[in-house]
Amino acid sequence: MQAEIYCALDTPDIGQAENMARQLSGQVDGLKIGMEYFYAHGAIGYRKLADAQMPIFLDLKLHDIPNTVAQAVHALAPLEPRLLNVHGGGGAAMMRAAADAAAQASDSGLAAPTMLAVTVLTSLAESDLHAMGIKGTPREQVLRLAELARTNGMQGVVCSAHEIDALRAEMGDDFKLIVPGIRPAGSDAHDQKRVMTPQQAQSAGADILVIGRAITEADNMAAAAQAIKADLAAQDGD
Ligand code: C5P
Repeated sequence: MQAEIYCALDTPDIGQAENMARQLSGQVDGLKIGMEYFYAHGAIGYRKLADAQMPIFLDLKLHDIPNTVAQAVHALAPLEPRLLNVHGGGGAAMMRAAADAAAQASDSGLAAPTMLAVTVLTSLAESDLHAMGIKGTPREQVLRLAELARTNGMQGVVCSAHEIDALRAEMGDDFKLIVPGIRPAGSDAHDQKRVMTPQQAQSAGADILVIGRAITEADNMAAAAQAIKADLAAQDGD
């Protein structure tokens, strides 16, 4: 299956984000916006981007007690993001509360978001986990949290490209894998330490590729997105 592309609009600048959303309308499968944009511009800023008529991944990584996270999901539901995420480290009850709150959106006639968990931040090394009292390797913790996420109503996880194989093998085909850290061959890795090309991530089993600067820093964003899509389509047809 061809992986989808969501473009990360990593800017707190509302005009710049709107401009990017306009240019990318119809060129990618969705947009990702995160804390820097949402904390600055809230629901009004969100709706400005939603005017581009594209699915939105609202990457807010919610993490609090179950009741508070459930209330946050209820508060976000009218925006109808296609994807919304929480930190798996918030635990089973928190994820279940978030999943239940999302499902209730449909009772109010809203499109319920697909709920995702963040497992281990890729900024954390094994030594960081040990300092927090978490034993084992980051990969073991990723798999443990992914299993906990699935058991508690999450429909997928955000993961690094290098975790796709293990997660796909453990979690089966229906669990969504959303993958950042993607760079077309030969492009600048920026601050990403371990990158994969779109084709590599797709063939490993990614469902959605989150791609930021490889598109947003291109002279022609639409052309950059189309080139990546063409590569994915060519591989998918192999
Ligand atoms: O510009 P680039 O393609 O590196 O952007 C990747 C996007 O994915 C950014 O929004 C970044 O915050 C996010 N992300 C990431 N690595 C993770 C989780 C999220 O790069 N492990």
